[in-house]
Amino acid sequence: MNVLFAASEGHPFIKTGGLGDVIGALPKELQKQGINVSVILPKYEDMNETFKEQLELKEAITVPVGWRHQYCGIETLRYNDITYYFIDNEYYFKRSGSYGYFDDGERFSFFCRAVLEAIPYLDEQPDILHCHDWQTGMIPVLKKAHYRNNPYYDGMKVVYTIHNLRYQGIFPKGILHDLLDLSELHFTNEGVEFHGNVSFMKGGLLYSDYITTVSPSYADEIKQPYFGEYLDGILRKREDDFTGIINGIDSELYDPAADSALKYTYHSSFLLKEKNKIELQEKLGLQKGEGIPVLCMITRLVEQKGMDLFFRVLPEIMEENVQVVVLGTGDEHYEHMLREAENRYPGRFSANIYFDEAFARKLYASSDLFLMPSQFEPCGISQLIALRYGSLPIVRETGGLKDTVIPYNKYTGEGHGFSFADYNAHDMLNAIRLALHYYHHESLTWRKLVERGMRLNYSWEKSAEKYSSLYESLVK
Ligand code: GLC
Repeated sequence: MNVLFAASEGHPFIKTGGLGDVIGALPKELQKQGINVSVILPKYEDMNETFKEQLELKEAITVPVGWRHQYCGIETLRYNDITYYFIDNEYYFKRSGSYGYFDDGERFSFFCRAVLEAIPYLDEQPDILHCHDWQTGMIPVLKKAHYRNNPYYDGMKVVYTIHNLRYQGIFPKGILHDLLDLSELHFTNEGVEFHGNVSFMKGGLLYSDYITTVSPSYADEIKQPYFGEYLDGILRKREDDFTGIINGIDSELYDPAADSALKYTYHSSFLLKEKNKIELQEKLGLQKGEGIPVLCMITRLVEQKGMDLFFRVLPEIMEENVQVVVLGTGDEHYEHMLREAENRYPGRFSANIYFDEAFARKLYASSDLFLMPSQFEPCGISQLIALRYGSLPIVRETGGLKDTVIPYNKYTGEGHGFSFADYNAHDMLNAIRLALHYYHHESLTWRKLVERGMRLNYSWEKSAEKYSSLYESLVK
């Protein structure tokens, strides 16, 4: 079975978020299970030099973009036994960063077409073309429109995975003719028309053979209007070809017993976790002390992540015996509020408005509580890393958070975290207070929960099995 992943980012070449983690980890696990996976990505300027130097040009072709023909280099390298292909076009991708440009519509129209044009030149003919998020949403549309009578593409099935339904790739109608060579016939409610514009996400949902998303709960949620981002109707219609498969984490990459970012690596020793904490407190200028719990957030500073709830009750959180550390960047007004909080609570609040992978790992390892009160969360990866590093998650019961964090139930003894259901700041505060209660007053229970969390298995194995049986069923 040959599977080709098409995506706009992938660790370790380029990563801006959770999508990059998935594209970095899932192929490895599928490969272990006997599926031959290769990955095709844009060649961005920001890709690490050592990788760039290893690239070999496989083929140079031209790709139709409306009435023009654009250069497309197909470059390749092997990494961890996986073949990666990179679509090279300097005009489109030799820029810093990956998305957020005024011409993203054109850049990813090109990318979608280039993937399809490149396929005959790759080492293997894919049985499954697995596309991820809006940047690849036009691939199934273009495949049906332009390659329908081409036998090379005949048996190839398209799986489309939604990592976040909110980001849809919506562009003016003109791109249909100017960039995608698609006629007016596609501009309907049953096609890619979306409130007067063109939606890449909608294309992916309508034209793929099968849709997945990254947790069972999110799959249920987005069939409802509240979470559905105006696409819930389509998802309800395609219900029979749509499922949620939970993400895992790369358990080799995220291992507190072997993490080079940590001064004190540990299996389950509380002593070593405490030592990491003291080091962190020193580094951040927090008051030093062993019995003080550290609550952290490692997040993009955007509404989705529940920042409003956090700021709404921050004064009440700070009345508790706790220190708070936040790491991440995002919307300016949240960054501003974080700086202000740092001034208001000297020695107890630390705002780190940047992102640094090594520091993030230190923080997972040194903190006791990990707060993630998302408004919605397709899967979420950080709560899993937090568990693995012994930082107990406090989450809102939505999407993947609901599927991965079982709240502690003092009657049945089940669970390994804390949660709340409604998007309400005081419900969140109560969950934080409950967690702090166990930390300060029931240390045996606390330790039991931390140890349980660290032992959980959130590897990719089971999920990869689900993807492989899905591929099998489609190819049959
Ligand atoms: C997106 C989602 C996140 C998910 C990730 C990987 O970033 O917001 O919840 O974990 O994709 O699928």
